[in-house]
Amino acid sequence: MDKLIVEGGHKLRGTLNISGSKNASLPILAAALLTDEPVRISRVPDVSDTNYMLQILSQLGASVERSSGTVRIESPDGISSSASYDQVRKMRASICLLGPMMARMHRCTLPLPGGCVIGDRPVDLHVRAIQALGARVRVKGGNLLIDAPNGLIGTTVDMRGDSGPTVLGTDNLMMAAVLAKGTTVIESAAREPEVVDLADFLNKMGARIEGAGSRTITVHGVDKLHGCEHTVIPDRIEAGTFMVAAAMCSEEGLTLNRICRKHLKAIADLLVECGHSVEFNEEGDSVVVKPGAHPRSGKILTNPYPGYPTDMQAQMTALFAITPGISVVRDTIFPQRFMHCSELKRMGANIKVDNGTAIITGVEGLSAAPVMASDLRASAALVLAALAAEGTTEIHRLYHIDRGYEMLDEKLLSLGARVRRVLDTEAPDFES
Ligand code: EPZ
Repeated sequence: MDKLIVEGGHKLRGTLNISGSKNASLPILAAALLTDEPVRISRVPDVSDTNYMLQILSQLGASVERSSGTVRIESPDGISSSASYDQVRKMRASICLLGPMMARMHRCTLPLPGGCVIGDRPVDLHVRAIQALGARVRVKGGNLLIDAPNGLIGTTVDMRGDSGPTVLGTDNLMMAAVLAKGTTVIESAAREPEVVDLADFLNKMGARIEGAGSRTITVHGVDKLHGCEHTVIPDRIEAGTFMVAAAMCSEEGLTLNRICRKHLKAIADLLVECGHSVEFNEEGDSVVVKPGAHPRSGKILTNPYPGYPTDMQAQMTALFAITPGISVVRDTIFPQRFMHCSELKRMGANIKVDNGTAIITGVEGLSAAPVMASDLRASAALVLAALAAEGTTEIHRLYHIDRGYEMLDEKLLSLGARVRRVLDTEAPDFES
């Protein structure tokens, strides 16, 4: 287990290329199961979540080759329709294997994903979707046992849940519907850019999907899909994380390349509202973010895209912690997603968390303390806080960060940060 030693107080400067999107890559890698022809996917970030997915695909019988950021996957007939608990337990996003397995093999055995620190991760909407297409779903021994002896039949499905649309649920229904008989209409679909990227990939394979990015997606079933080549979209959450880093820990600002302006609107608008400077280039594939001279507190109410992303509230909380005034963060999507607050308080932040809302009173500065990463985005918030803090911070359980941030330490070093990844021999004994 590794930890990250961060020497605070060094201002970041320079330029960075943002990696391909982890959350676009995961369902696209799973969608490779939909054809027996090879697919080639570029800019797949080398992070543990994508590597877990590639391991699962090869354990199912697909051939997987990765050379730098490009992955080649071929899924011959006869691949397995069941993933084991051991494979899946490490990554709840494996649920996105459900759609492609059902479309290709009309049956699947998938362990129910456990919960995680950001809250319960139900799959009732995924089950609703596949049952609507005619599948039978049983739960046995912690596994979802699903089969559709007569194949999948297109229909209209409203995917809205109590907490709004579901990203991976929309993905699963799209992937199940592409080879179904007839047409499937997905109402209350998720509009995230990662859903649109998956639809683009499926259409390159010969699917017929319309309306991705809107609330209603129509999928006309086809008989077969073929191989294709695709480059995943930039990672908007990694980009957002470094935009906050620029506002929090730089003097002349940071330049971030290989980004997509359209995907960053909510994050850019909030940073500008809080007094920072955000300038995109003409093409919208590069942005310069500079700290404001008089930063202002702000308010976040997370919402499905194009609203402010839940995956960016922890990082902004770290900035609010040292911004004068009172800021408020309310997460409507994952109301328990505040594990980072107790760790930030160990560094001197003044935060009160109550019933899905964090009230942050800005302090002069944070001070170093040994802290523990808990989930991917909470860990990113701790790194930002450590970069700005006085003294040297140790961040334990670095594996949380490695799930979704490609070469984070190298990227920070290239921007002038003083960080060191070391083996965490004395892993904290207060392991929960
Ligand atoms: C995706 O998770 C992302 N993960 C998450 O990013 C992100 O936080 C989330 O979307 C919301 O934007 C990937 O894309 C791999 P949801 P997903 O289904 O699809 C409820 C990160 O940090 N719900 O959109 O699993 C659910 O509890 C990760 O990169 C049901 O009630 O999330 C939540 O309240 C963390 N029933 C809301 O919907 C269901 O069947 C949105 O969840 C499914 C979800």
